[in-house]
Amino acid sequence: IPVETFDLVIFGGTGDLARRKILPGLFRRFLAGQMPHDSRIVGAARSDLDAAGYREMIKDAIAEFGGSEKKETGQIDAFLACLQYVPIDAKGDGGWDDMAKLVRKDVVQAFYFSVAPSLFGDLAERLHKYKIANKKSRIVVEKPFGRDLESAEALNATLADHFREDQIYRIDHYLGKETVQNLMAVRFGNILFEPLWNNHYIDHIQITVAETVSVAGRGAYYDRSGAMRDMVQNHLMQLLCLIAMEPPSQFGADSVRDEKLKVIRALQGVDPHHIVRGQYDAGKGTTSYRQDAENERSFTESFIAMKCHIANWRWAGVPFYLRTGKMMKARSSEITVVFKEIGHSIFSENDNAHRNILSIRLQPNEGMDLQVTIKEPGPGGMRLVDVPLDMTFAEALGDSDVEVTDAYERLIMDVIRGDQTLFMRGDEVEAAWAWTDPIIEGWEARNDVPKLYDPGSSGPEDALMLLHRDGRKWREIKGE
Ligand code: BG6
Repeated sequence: IPVETFDLVIFGGTGDLARRKILPGLFRRFLAGQMPHDSRIVGAARSDLDAAGYREMIKDAIAEFGGSEKKETGQIDAFLACLQYVPIDAKGDGGWDDMAKLVRKDVVQAFYFSVAPSLFGDLAERLHKYKIANKKSRIVVEKPFGRDLESAEALNATLADHFREDQIYRIDHYLGKETVQNLMAVRFGNILFEPLWNNHYIDHIQITVAETVSVAGRGAYYDRSGAMRDMVQNHLMQLLCLIAMEPPSQFGADSVRDEKLKVIRALQGVDPHHIVRGQYDAGKGTTSYRQDAENERSFTESFIAMKCHIANWRWAGVPFYLRTGKMMKARSSEITVVFKEIGHSIFSENDNAHRNILSIRLQPNEGMDLQVTIKEPGPGGMRLVDVPLDMTFAEALGDSDVEVTDAYERLIMDVIRGDQTLFMRGDEVEAAWAWTDPIIEGWEARNDVPKLYDPGSSGPEDALMLLHRDGRKWREIKGE
Protein backbone atom coordinates (compact mmCIF):
# COMPACT_ATOMS: atom_id res chain seq x y z
CA ILE A 1 0.00 0.00 0.00
CA PRO A 2 1.57 3.32 -1.02
CA VAL A 3 2.07 5.94 1.64
CA GLU A 4 0.97 9.54 1.15
CA THR A 5 3.09 11.83 -0.98
CA PHE A 6 5.86 13.25 1.17
CA ASP A 7 8.80 15.61 1.25
CA LEU A 8 11.71 14.22 3.20
CA VAL A 9 14.71 16.40 4.00
CA ILE A 10 17.83 14.51 5.02
CA PHE A 11 20.25 16.68 6.95
CA GLY A 12 23.57 14.93 6.59
CA GLY A 13 22.36 13.83 3.16
CA THR A 14 25.86 13.05 1.92
CA GLY A 15 26.83 11.12 5.06
CA ASP A 16 27.44 7.46 5.62
CA LEU A 17 24.01 6.57 6.95
CA ALA A 18 22.25 8.40 4.14
CA ARG A 19 24.30 6.65 1.48
CA ARG A 20 24.36 3.19 3.05
CA LYS A 21 20.90 2.89 4.50
CA ILE A 22 18.43 5.72 4.07
CA LEU A 23 18.57 6.26 0.31
CA PRO A 24 19.01 2.64 -0.80
CA GLY A 25 16.11 1.85 1.54
CA LEU A 26 13.94 4.54 0.01
CA PHE A 27 14.81 3.25 -3.43
CA ARG A 28 13.60 -0.22 -2.47
CA ARG A 29 10.33 1.25 -1.23
CA PHE A 30 10.08 3.14 -4.50
CA LEU A 31 10.53 -0.12 -6.42
CA ALA A 32 7.96 -1.79 -4.23
CA GLY A 33 5.48 0.87 -5.27
CA GLN A 34 5.19 2.26 -1.77
CA MET A 35 6.77 5.64 -2.39
CA PRO A 36 4.61 7.93 -4.52
CA HIS A 37 6.55 9.26 -7.50
CA ASP A 38 5.67 12.86 -6.77
CA SER A 39 7.44 12.67 -3.41
CA ARG A 40 10.55 14.73 -2.91
CA ILE A 41 13.75 13.80 -1.13
CA VAL A 42 15.97 16.75 -0.36
CA GLY A 43 19.58 16.09 0.60
CA ALA A 44 21.05 18.85 2.74
CA ALA A 45 24.66 19.05 3.80
CA ARG A 46 27.68 21.30 3.75
CA SER A 47 29.10 20.09 0.41
CA ASP A 48 28.64 22.44 -2.47
CA LEU A 49 26.71 20.12 -4.76
CA ASP A 50 23.77 20.66 -7.07
CA ALA A 51 20.88 18.27 -7.69
CA ALA A 52 22.71 16.59 -10.59
CA GLY A 53 25.83 16.01 -8.49
CA TYR A 54 23.76 14.64 -5.63
CA ARG A 55 21.86 12.28 -7.92
CA GLU A 56 25.18 10.99 -9.23
CA MET A 57 26.41 10.39 -5.69
CA ILE A 58 23.25 8.55 -4.70
CA LYS A 59 23.23 6.49 -7.87
CA ASP A 60 26.70 5.23 -6.91
CA ALA A 61 25.59 4.63 -3.32
CA ILE A 62 22.64 2.55 -4.45
CA ALA A 63 24.89 0.54 -6.76
CA GLU A 64 27.29 -0.07 -3.89
CA PHE A 65 24.98 -0.61 -0.96
CA GLY A 66 22.21 -2.50 -2.53
CA GLY A 67 19.20 -1.79 -4.59
CA SER A 68 17.03 -4.75 -4.97
CA GLU A 69 16.99 -8.20 -6.48
CA LYS A 70 14.00 -7.14 -8.48
CA LYS A 71 14.28 -5.79 -11.99
CA GLU A 72 14.96 -2.14 -11.75
CA THR A 73 15.65 -1.07 -15.29
CA GLY A 74 14.64 2.50 -15.84
CA GLN A 75 13.37 2.77 -12.31
CA ILE A 76 16.56 4.22 -10.94
CA ASP A 77 16.22 7.35 -13.07
CA ALA A 78 12.64 7.82 -12.01
CA PHE A 79 13.76 7.54 -8.39
CA LEU A 80 16.68 9.92 -8.84
CA ALA A 81 14.29 12.45 -10.35
CA CYS A 82 12.68 12.73 -6.89
CA LEU A 83 16.00 13.89 -5.42
CA GLN A 84 16.98 17.48 -4.78
CA TYR A 85 19.93 18.98 -2.98
CA VAL A 86 20.52 22.12 -0.96
CA PRO A 87 23.93 23.15 0.42
CA ILE A 88 23.14 24.24 3.92
CA ASP A 89 24.86 26.09 6.72
CA ALA A 90 23.44 24.54 9.87
CA LYS A 91 24.71 27.32 12.10
CA GLY A 92 24.24 30.20 9.69
CA ASP A 93 21.74 31.41 7.14
CA GLY A 94 23.09 29.88 3.96
CA GLY A 95 20.71 27.67 2.01
CA TRP A 96 17.62 27.99 4.20
CA ASP A 97 15.64 30.18 1.83
CA ASP A 98 16.31 27.68 -0.94
CA MET A 99 15.09 24.90 1.24
CA ALA A 100 11.95 26.81 2.10
CA LYS A 101 11.18 26.94 -1.62
CA LEU A 102 11.69 23.22 -2.08
CA VAL A 103 9.71 21.83 0.82
CA ARG A 104 5.98 21.83 0.13
CA LYS A 105 3.46 22.77 2.78
CA ASP A 106 0.62 20.60 1.54
CA VAL A 107 2.26 17.18 1.79
CA VAL A 108 3.63 15.10 4.67
CA GLN A 109 6.90 16.66 5.79
CA ALA A 110 9.69 14.82 7.50
CA PHE A 111 13.13 16.06 8.51
CA TYR A 112 15.78 13.45 9.15
CA PHE A 113 18.54 14.74 11.43
CA SER A 114 21.35 12.44 10.35
CA VAL A 115 23.93 14.77 11.92
CA ALA A 116 25.77 15.23 15.22
CA PRO A 117 23.32 15.80 18.09
CA SER A 118 25.07 19.10 18.82
CA LEU A 119 23.39 20.44 15.67
CA PHE A 120 19.82 19.37 16.54
CA GLY A 121 19.01 22.69 18.20
CA ASP A 122 20.41 24.78 15.33
CA LEU A 123 18.47 22.82 12.73
CA ALA A 124 15.22 22.82 14.67
CA GLU A 125 15.44 26.54 15.27
CA ARG A 126 16.09 27.36 11.62
CA LEU A 127 13.32 25.09 10.38
CA HIS A 128 10.94 27.40 12.21
CA LYS A 129 12.74 30.67 11.60
CA TYR A 130 12.54 30.11 7.86
CA LYS A 131 8.97 28.85 8.16
CA ILE A 132 9.82 25.48 6.65
CA ALA A 133 8.43 23.24 9.38
CA ASN A 134 4.90 23.40 10.71
CA LYS A 135 2.79 21.80 13.42
CA LYS A 136 2.47 18.61 11.48
CA SER A 137 6.12 18.13 10.43
CA ARG A 138 7.91 15.09 11.74
CA ILE A 139 11.53 14.91 12.70
CA VAL A 140 13.67 11.81 12.82
CA VAL A 141 16.70 11.49 15.04
CA GLU A 142 19.29 8.77 15.37
CA LYS A 143 21.32 7.28 18.12
CA PRO A 144 23.47 8.08 19.97
CA PHE A 145 20.73 9.91 21.78
CA GLY A 146 22.95 11.38 24.47
CA ARG A 147 25.76 9.63 26.30
CA ASP A 148 24.15 9.75 29.73
CA LEU A 149 20.94 10.87 31.39
CA GLU A 150 21.97 14.51 31.58
CA SER A 151 22.85 14.85 27.90
CA ALA A 152 19.73 12.91 26.85
CA GLU A 153 17.55 15.20 28.95
CA ALA A 154 19.23 18.20 27.37
CA LEU A 155 18.59 16.84 23.87
CA ASN A 156 14.97 16.09 24.67
CA ALA A 157 14.57 19.59 26.03
CA THR A 158 16.12 21.12 22.89
CA LEU A 159 13.79 19.16 20.65
CA ALA A 160 10.80 19.92 22.87
CA ASP A 161 11.47 23.64 22.42
CA HIS A 162 10.54 23.26 18.78
CA PHE A 163 8.46 20.09 18.35
CA ARG A 164 5.83 18.14 20.24
CA GLU A 165 6.64 14.58 21.34
CA ASP A 166 4.24 13.17 18.76
CA GLN A 167 6.32 14.85 16.03
CA ILE A 168 9.60 13.28 17.19
CA TYR A 169 10.72 9.88 15.86
CA ARG A 170 13.77 8.51 17.71
CA ILE A 171 15.16 5.60 15.77
CA ASP A 172 16.50 2.42 17.29
CA HIS A 173 16.99 0.41 14.15
CA TYR A 174 16.57 -2.88 16.04
CA LEU A 175 12.88 -2.08 16.34
CA GLY A 176 12.69 -1.92 12.56
CA LYS A 177 13.99 -5.44 12.16
CA GLU A 178 11.32 -7.81 10.99
CA THR A 179 12.26 -10.47 13.50
CA VAL A 180 12.32 -8.08 16.41
CA GLN A 181 8.73 -7.23 15.64
CA ASN A 182 8.14 -10.91 15.43
CA LEU A 183 8.91 -11.13 19.12
CA MET A 184 5.65 -9.35 19.75
CA ALA A 185 3.79 -11.50 17.23
CA VAL A 186 5.09 -14.68 18.83
CA ARG A 187 4.31 -13.57 22.36
CA PHE A 188 0.95 -11.97 21.79
CA GLY A 189 -0.33 -13.83 18.75
CA ASN A 190 -0.10 -17.31 20.27
CA ILE A 191 -1.95 -18.69 23.23
CA LEU A 192 0.82 -21.18 23.83
CA PHE A 193 3.51 -19.00 25.34
CA GLU A 194 1.91 -16.29 27.44
CA PRO A 195 0.59 -18.57 30.22
CA LEU A 196 4.14 -19.86 30.73
CA TRP A 197 5.81 -16.47 30.43
CA ASN A 198 6.64 -15.84 34.07
CA ASN A 199 8.75 -16.91 37.02
CA HIS A 200 6.68 -20.02 37.65
CA TYR A 201 7.85 -21.63 34.45
CA ILE A 202 10.87 -19.73 33.22
CA ASP A 203 14.24 -20.37 34.79
CA HIS A 204 16.14 -17.60 33.02
CA ILE A 205 16.43 -15.70 29.75
CA GLN A 206 19.51 -15.02 27.66
CA ILE A 207 19.90 -12.26 25.11
CA THR A 208 22.97 -12.46 22.90
CA VAL A 209 23.94 -10.05 20.15
CA ALA A 210 27.29 -11.27 18.85
CA GLU A 211 29.06 -9.52 16.01
CA THR A 212 32.13 -10.45 14.00
CA VAL A 213 33.00 -6.90 12.99
CA SER A 214 35.72 -4.89 14.69
CA VAL A 215 35.62 -1.22 15.56
CA ALA A 216 38.26 -0.31 12.97
CA GLY A 217 37.31 2.83 11.11
CA ARG A 218 34.99 4.11 13.82
CA GLY A 219 37.34 3.90 16.78
CA ALA A 220 37.03 7.57 17.63
CA TYR A 221 33.28 7.26 18.24
CA TYR A 222 33.37 3.78 19.69
CA ASP A 223 36.13 4.39 22.19
CA ARG A 224 34.02 7.05 23.85
CA SER A 225 31.02 4.75 23.94
CA GLY A 226 31.86 1.10 24.47
CA ALA A 227 29.45 -1.79 24.21
CA MET A 228 27.30 -0.56 27.09
CA ARG A 229 26.44 2.77 25.47
CA ASP A 230 26.61 1.55 21.88
CA MET A 231 24.50 -1.60 22.19
CA VAL A 232 23.09 -2.32 25.65
CA GLN A 233 21.47 1.02 26.50
CA ASN A 234 19.48 0.86 23.28
CA HIS A 235 19.31 -2.32 21.19
CA LEU A 236 19.59 -4.94 23.94
CA MET A 237 17.35 -2.87 26.15
CA GLN A 238 14.67 -2.86 23.46
CA LEU A 239 14.91 -6.62 23.07
CA LEU A 240 14.67 -7.04 26.81
CA CYS A 241 11.59 -4.84 26.91
CA LEU A 242 9.80 -6.74 24.16
CA ILE A 243 10.53 -10.07 25.82
CA ALA A 244 9.61 -8.94 29.32
CA MET A 245 6.82 -6.39 28.96
CA GLU A 246 3.22 -6.95 29.96
CA PRO A 247 0.81 -7.41 27.07
CA PRO A 248 -0.12 -3.94 25.81
CA SER A 249 -3.84 -3.45 25.34
CA GLN A 250 -3.28 -2.80 21.67
CA PHE A 251 -0.48 -2.54 19.13
CA GLY A 252 -0.33 1.23 19.27
CA ALA A 253 2.40 3.72 19.95
CA ASP A 254 1.60 4.67 23.50
CA SER A 255 0.28 1.33 24.72
CA VAL A 256 3.46 -0.42 23.59
CA ARG A 257 5.78 2.29 24.81
CA ASP A 258 4.06 2.57 28.19
CA GLU A 259 4.68 -1.14 28.78
CA LYS A 260 8.30 -0.95 27.68
CA LEU A 261 8.88 2.00 29.97
CA LYS A 262 7.55 0.01 32.94
CA VAL A 263 10.11 -2.72 32.27
CA ILE A 264 12.99 -0.27 32.14
CA ARG A 265 11.83 1.41 35.32
CA ALA A 266 11.59 -1.97 37.06
CA LEU A 267 15.15 -2.94 36.17
CA GLN A 268 17.28 -3.26 39.27
CA GLY A 269 20.73 -1.80 39.60
CA VAL A 270 23.36 -4.32 38.59
CA ASP A 271 25.84 -5.75 41.08
CA PRO A 272 29.36 -5.02 39.72
CA HIS A 273 30.17 -8.71 40.24
CA HIS A 274 27.47 -9.53 37.73
CA ILE A 275 29.16 -7.63 34.93
CA VAL A 276 32.01 -8.82 32.75
CA ARG A 277 33.65 -6.35 30.43
CA GLY A 278 35.96 -7.49 27.68
CA GLN A 279 38.25 -6.10 25.02
CA TYR A 280 39.36 -8.11 22.02
CA ASP A 281 43.01 -8.92 21.71
CA ALA A 282 45.06 -9.15 18.53
CA GLY A 283 44.67 -12.43 16.67
CA LYS A 284 46.25 -14.15 13.72
CA GLY A 285 46.36 -11.38 11.18
CA THR A 286 43.91 -9.19 13.10
CA THR A 287 44.62 -6.13 15.17
CA SER A 288 43.61 -5.61 18.78
CA TYR A 289 40.84 -3.37 20.02
CA ARG A 290 43.39 -0.86 21.26
CA GLN A 291 45.03 -0.73 17.85
CA ASP A 292 41.66 -0.37 16.10
CA ALA A 293 40.58 2.33 18.51
CA GLU A 294 44.00 3.97 18.20
CA ASN A 295 44.20 4.27 21.94
CA GLU A 296 46.88 2.13 23.54
CA ARG A 297 45.59 2.84 27.04
CA SER A 298 41.90 2.37 26.34
CA PHE A 299 39.74 0.83 29.06
CA THR A 300 36.65 0.82 26.84
CA GLU A 301 34.78 -2.48 26.52
CA SER A 302 34.12 -4.09 23.16
CA PHE A 303 32.25 -6.89 24.94
CA ILE A 304 29.92 -6.95 27.89
CA ALA A 305 28.00 -9.66 29.67
CA MET A 306 25.74 -9.01 32.60
CA LYS A 307 23.07 -10.48 34.82
CA CYS A 308 20.03 -8.29 35.37
CA HIS A 309 16.82 -8.54 37.32
CA ILE A 310 13.43 -7.03 36.74
CA ALA A 311 11.74 -6.25 40.01
CA ASN A 312 8.12 -7.01 39.33
CA TRP A 313 5.60 -9.73 40.02
CA ARG A 314 6.12 -11.56 36.74
CA TRP A 315 9.90 -11.70 36.76
CA ALA A 316 10.97 -11.78 40.40
CA GLY A 317 13.86 -14.22 40.72
CA VAL A 318 14.35 -14.76 36.97
CA PRO A 319 17.79 -13.64 35.81
CA PHE A 320 18.16 -12.02 32.41
CA TYR A 321 21.66 -12.58 31.08
CA LEU A 322 22.69 -10.12 28.39
CA ARG A 323 25.83 -10.22 26.29
CA THR A 324 27.10 -8.45 23.23
CA GLY A 325 30.50 -7.98 21.65
CA LYS A 326 32.58 -7.28 18.58
CA MET A 327 35.00 -9.70 16.89
CA MET A 328 33.22 -12.74 18.22
CA LYS A 329 33.01 -16.18 16.68
CA ALA A 330 29.87 -15.60 14.64
CA ARG A 331 27.30 -12.98 13.84
CA SER A 332 24.30 -14.10 15.75
CA SER A 333 21.51 -12.42 17.65
CA GLU A 334 19.37 -14.73 19.65
CA ILE A 335 17.02 -14.72 22.59
CA THR A 336 16.86 -17.91 24.58
CA VAL A 337 14.12 -18.65 27.05
CA VAL A 338 15.11 -21.53 29.31
CA PHE A 339 12.13 -23.09 31.06
CA LYS A 340 12.30 -24.78 34.43
CA GLU A 341 12.73 -28.50 34.88
CA ILE A 342 9.60 -30.52 35.43
CA GLY A 343 8.76 -30.91 39.10
CA HIS A 344 8.58 -34.68 39.18
CA SER A 345 9.67 -37.31 36.70
CA ILE A 346 7.70 -40.50 36.26
CA PHE A 347 10.67 -41.94 34.41
CA SER A 348 14.11 -42.52 35.83
CA GLU A 349 15.66 -40.28 38.42
CA ASN A 350 17.65 -38.16 36.03
CA ASP A 351 14.88 -37.59 33.63
CA ASN A 352 13.65 -34.44 35.22
CA ALA A 353 16.85 -32.78 34.06
CA HIS A 354 15.39 -32.18 30.61
CA ARG A 355 14.17 -28.75 29.83
CA ASN A 356 12.21 -26.93 27.23
CA ILE A 357 14.23 -24.18 25.64
CA LEU A 358 12.76 -21.67 23.25
CA SER A 359 15.25 -19.84 21.08
CA ILE A 360 14.27 -16.99 18.87
CA ARG A 361 16.92 -16.25 16.24
CA LEU A 362 16.84 -12.63 15.18
CA GLN A 363 19.69 -12.75 12.70
CA PRO A 364 20.85 -14.48 10.60
CA ASN A 365 18.52 -17.37 9.67
CA GLU A 366 15.55 -15.78 11.39
CA GLY A 367 13.57 -18.46 13.06
CA MET A 368 12.56 -20.25 16.19
CA ASP A 369 13.65 -23.42 17.77
CA LEU A 370 11.89 -25.17 20.61
CA GLN A 371 13.70 -27.90 22.42
CA VAL A 372 11.31 -30.63 23.48
CA THR A 373 11.84 -33.90 25.25
CA ILE A 374 10.82 -37.15 23.57
CA LYS A 375 11.49 -40.84 23.91
CA GLU A 376 14.77 -41.91 22.45
CA PRO A 377 13.81 -44.09 19.53
CA GLY A 378 14.67 -47.78 19.68
CA PRO A 379 14.15 -50.72 21.95
CA GLY A 380 16.35 -49.38 24.77
CA GLY A 381 13.45 -48.74 27.10
CA MET A 382 11.96 -45.47 28.20
CA ARG A 383 14.94 -43.18 27.77
CA LEU A 384 14.41 -39.51 27.11
CA VAL A 385 16.19 -37.26 24.72
CA ASP A 386 15.92 -33.58 23.81
CA VAL A 387 15.29 -32.68 20.19
CA PRO A 388 14.82 -29.33 18.51
CA LEU A 389 11.62 -28.43 16.75
CA ASP A 390 13.40 -26.10 14.42
CA MET A 391 11.77 -23.67 12.10
CA THR A 392 13.44 -21.19 9.85
CA PHE A 393 10.85 -18.58 8.97
CA ALA A 394 11.99 -18.22 5.37
CA GLU A 395 11.55 -21.95 4.80
CA ALA A 396 8.30 -22.14 6.67
CA LEU A 397 6.86 -19.26 4.69
CA GLY A 398 8.22 -21.03 1.65
CA ASP A 399 8.80 -17.89 -0.25
CA SER A 400 12.17 -16.63 -1.25
CA ASP A 401 10.44 -13.83 -3.15
CA VAL A 402 9.51 -12.10 0.05
CA GLU A 403 12.21 -9.51 0.12
CA VAL A 404 13.35 -8.81 3.65
CA THR A 405 12.62 -5.19 4.39
CA ASP A 406 15.60 -3.49 5.89
CA ALA A 407 15.03 -1.87 9.27
CA TYR A 408 15.52 1.65 7.97
CA GLU A 409 13.14 1.45 5.07
CA ARG A 410 10.42 0.09 7.27
CA LEU A 411 10.96 2.79 9.89
CA ILE A 412 11.03 5.62 7.37
CA MET A 413 7.72 4.46 5.96
CA ASP A 414 6.33 4.43 9.51
CA VAL A 415 7.44 8.06 9.89
CA ILE A 416 5.54 8.98 6.75
CA ARG A 417 2.49 7.07 7.98
CA GLY A 418 2.75 8.83 11.33
CA ASP A 419 3.10 5.62 13.33
CA GLN A 420 5.39 5.98 16.36
CA THR A 421 5.00 2.45 17.73
CA LEU A 422 8.49 1.37 16.71
CA PHE A 423 10.24 4.54 17.87
CA MET A 424 11.54 5.40 21.29
CA ARG A 425 9.72 7.92 23.35
CA GLY A 426 11.72 10.56 25.22
CA ASP A 427 10.90 9.16 28.66
CA GLU A 428 11.95 5.68 27.56
CA VAL A 429 15.38 6.87 26.47
CA GLU A 430 15.83 8.78 29.69
CA ALA A 431 14.81 5.78 31.80
CA ALA A 432 17.32 3.62 29.94
CA TRP A 433 20.10 6.09 30.69
CA ALA A 434 19.01 6.38 34.30
CA TRP A 435 19.62 2.62 34.61
CA THR A 436 22.86 2.68 32.61
CA ASP A 437 24.57 5.67 34.24
CA PRO A 438 25.34 4.22 37.69
CA ILE A 439 26.72 1.07 36.10
CA ILE A 440 29.14 3.03 33.94
CA GLU A 441 29.98 5.44 36.75
CA GLY A 442 30.83 2.44 38.92
CA TRP A 443 33.44 1.05 36.61
CA GLU A 444 34.81 4.46 35.77
CA ALA A 445 35.30 5.16 39.46
CA ARG A 446 37.06 1.82 39.93
CA ASN A 447 39.15 2.21 36.77
CA ASP A 448 37.87 -1.17 35.78
CA VAL A 449 40.12 -2.87 33.23
CA PRO A 450 38.29 -5.03 30.67
CA LYS A 451 39.38 -8.65 30.31
CA LEU A 452 41.08 -9.53 27.06
CA TYR A 453 39.42 -12.08 24.82
CA ASP A 454 40.54 -13.79 21.66
CA PRO A 455 39.02 -12.61 18.42
CA GLY A 456 36.72 -15.30 17.08
CA SER A 457 35.80 -16.49 20.58
CA SER A 458 32.67 -16.18 22.72
CA GLY A 459 34.21 -13.44 24.85
CA PRO A 460 36.32 -13.63 28.02
CA GLU A 461 36.30 -16.74 30.24
CA ASP A 462 34.71 -14.73 33.03
CA ALA A 463 31.59 -14.33 30.94
CA LEU A 464 31.19 -18.10 30.88
CA MET A 465 31.77 -18.16 34.63
CA LEU A 466 28.99 -15.64 35.15
CA LEU A 467 26.52 -18.40 34.27
CA HIS A 468 28.52 -21.37 35.51
CA ARG A 469 28.45 -19.89 38.97
CA ASP A 470 24.66 -20.06 38.79
CA GLY A 471 24.73 -23.62 37.45
CA ARG A 472 23.74 -22.45 33.97
CA LYS A 473 25.41 -22.11 30.63
CA TRP A 474 25.22 -19.81 27.66
CA ARG A 475 23.69 -21.09 24.52
CA GLU A 476 26.41 -21.62 21.97
CA ILE A 477 26.95 -18.80 19.50
CA LYS A 478 26.35 -20.22 16.06
CA GLY A 479 26.35 -18.27 12.87
CA GLU A 480 25.22 -19.21 9.40
C1 BG6 B 1 24.77 0.05 15.73
C2 BG6 B 1 26.03 0.07 16.55
O1 BG6 B 1 23.77 0.80 16.36
O2 BG6 B 1 24.33 -1.29 15.58
C3 BG6 B 1 27.09 -0.79 15.90
O3 BG6 B 1 26.50 1.40 16.67
C4 BG6 B 1 26.57 -2.17 15.63
O4 BG6 B 1 28.26 -0.85 16.71
C5 BG6 B 1 25.24 -2.12 14.90
O5 BG6 B 1 27.54 -2.86 14.85
C6 BG6 B 1 24.64 -3.51 14.79
O6 BG6 B 1 23.52 -3.48 13.94
P1 BG6 B 1 23.07 -4.76 13.10
O7 BG6 B 1 21.84 -4.31 12.39
O8 BG6 B 1 24.20 -5.09 12.18
O9 BG6 B 1 22.82 -5.86 14.08
